[in-house]
Amino acid sequence: MQGTAIAQPNIALIKYWGKRDVERNLPAVGSISITLRELHTRMSVTFDEVLAADTLTVNDAPDDRMLPRLSACLDRVAGKDRPRARILSSCNFPIAAGLASSASSFAALTVAVADAAGQSLSTAELASLAGQASGSAARSLLGGFVELRNTDDDIEVSSLCAADEWPLMVVVAITEAGPKPVGSTEAMEISRKTSPFFSSWVEQQEQDLDTARAAIAERDFQTLAAIAEHNCLKMHSVMWASRPPMVYWNAATMRCLQTVRRLQGQGVGVFFTIDAGPQIKAVCLPEFAAQVEAALRVTPGVTDIMTTGLGEGARLEHME
Ligand code: DP6
Repeated sequence: MQGTAIAQPNIALIKYWGKRDVERNLPAVGSISITLRELHTRMSVTFDEVLAADTLTVNDAPDDRMLPRLSACLDRVAGKDRPRARILSSCNFPIAAGLASSASSFAALTVAVADAAGQSLSTAELASLAGQASGSAARSLLGGFVELRNTDDDIEVSSLCAADEWPLMVVVAITEAGPKPVGSTEAMEISRKTSPFFSSWVEQQEQDLDTARAAIAERDFQTLAAIAEHNCLKMHSVMWASRPPMVYWNAATMRCLQTVRRLQGQGVGVFFTIDAGPQIKAVCLPEFAAQVEAALRVTPGVTDIMTTGLGEGARLEHME
């Protein structure tokens, strides 16, 4: 009746933006991501026949905000007639600030609740369930470089390369730790319905996925850097051209981008990516991590820096 799992967030290099089926939360496009090592979310689910309603504690304080989405995830995994549950969540990085906290939360939750309900699910089943809760969560089930593909009526995730087979580093520059104004779920729908660039975004995605997949197979950093930056800027162009426009960047985001450009000019193996928030994620070859971190740390407007390698996928944590 109890399960605990831990999962790390992932950062998409080829982005998921837009849904083909809102009801089932199926993405309009495939995506490729890297799972991080140092940031994590732990989810513990305890079913209790005595409880009248699910309860949620986040970082030791009662917090209902995410409860409806978490309860819906529990229903999908364990059935609507399940006992109510006590959910404990802890997270060592800012929540809802464009750092993919929903990815690690729902990956960990799906694995934890399946265990609490006594179910032994395959990766395919877990991916389908985690993906219904949050598209990016399915990717955090696996470690290293992960591809999420659309199948005829669902999604599937697969590993492209393990974390230690190409140990890139990620320097996350935080420019604003508060929650974002419009969550990605809502923002994606606004883009799909109103952005004149949405259809070309979807049309070009297969090609970007092919390029990134081949670059990862060949450990070709420059090609991966070029396609990841291009794909990220295309996604933000879709957002900017939506009505109302969605601009997640702030002045410090732009300055970080210039820092990355300057480093690239000096021959540093680094590229940027930006999600639905103002933080910059600088992905780099390990030998440049200290230099990238130092340069971003002194970039005006950066309030915090987190440097991490690539890590493993979601897993159960057995209590002693
Ligand atoms: C910009 O997975 O949070 O980070 O499926 O609606 O929960 P929902 O969306 P979510 O969106 C992630 C968007 C992104 C790009 C990405 O991670 O691929």
